[in-house]
Amino acid sequence: MKPDFSPISSIDGPRGRDSAVVAELRDVSKSYGAGNNRVLALNHLSLKVFQGDYLAVMGASGSGKSTAMNILGCLDQPSEGEYWLDRCHTADLNDDQLADLRNRKLGFVFQQFYLLRELTALENVMLPMVYAGVSRALQRQRAEEVLVRVGLGKRLHNRPNQLSGGQQQRVAIARAIINRPVLLLADEPTGALDSTTSNEVMDLFADLNQEGMTIILVTHERDVAERARRIVHFADGRIQEASSPSSAVTRSSRVAP
Ligand SMILES: Nc1ncnc2c1ncn2[C@@H]1O[C@H](COP(=O)(O)OP(=O)(O)O)[C@@H](O)[C@H]1O
Ligand SMILES: [Mg+2]
Repeated sequence: MKPDFSPISSIDGPRGRDSAVVAELRDVSKSYGAGNNRVLALNHLSLKVFQGDYLAVMGASGSGKSTAMNILGCLDQPSEGEYWLDRCHTADLNDDQLADLRNRKLGFVFQQFYLLRELTALENVMLPMVYAGVSRALQRQRAEEVLVRVGLGKRLHNRPNQLSGGQQQRVAIARAIINRPVLLLADEPTGALDSTTSNEVMDLFADLNQEGMTIILVTHERDVAERARRIVHFADGRIQEASSPSSAVTRSSRVAP
């Protein structure tokens, strides 16, 4: 299976790409608590994510990364400002519509995989399609294709405890992309993996991005972040600076038409 959005021809210069904004935080603030206990987790944060983007988010603990990811993933709402996902203003949607949006438009990958241990790899990957109302035969076929795509064609019927950490994370990635999301959100996806396995998983993210998948990835690891097309650094609920890792330039020039 290939994600059904076309690859972008240029990664540099947002000009001309505004038509392809997948997600946008507009002047978003988020506070928790009240009075003296009030914490400002996001402070007038603005961020545009373009189709085909691959964004790494770095920043100290407490800088607002998870809060931003929760809003981007429609798991939480801004206190102020707007979040637009695939041309929908998320504040206009009710809980059912948000759940539907999450299932159809977003894919999630976490440090701890969160696979269901009593299900096989194939069954884990089929799950998001159960909720999406796809026929059982098509579920199996698509899940198999995606597992083959992530290199687990021989592991379809293994349960998570029969798989290595890297294999489990690849199952989780297969599950995240099965409904062809417009945006893949990954929070520390290599945090529980050794460096070799981590590299393999990052190769997979790079391949998916080159096939057109839009990705936002939170990481503490510089070498992981440098495989993205751009890096944003969070500090005190804001974006501190933006940069394009040099490796991304090399990679993109290799694939440019
Ligand atoms: N549910 C919550 N209730 C109260 N404070 C929170 C909550 N979630 C996050 N915070 C606070 O918001 C700030 C940003 O947290 P977070 O987004 O988790 O940062 P990061 O992911 O970068 O470590 C921190 O000061 C944190 O303590
Ligand atoms: Mg966090």
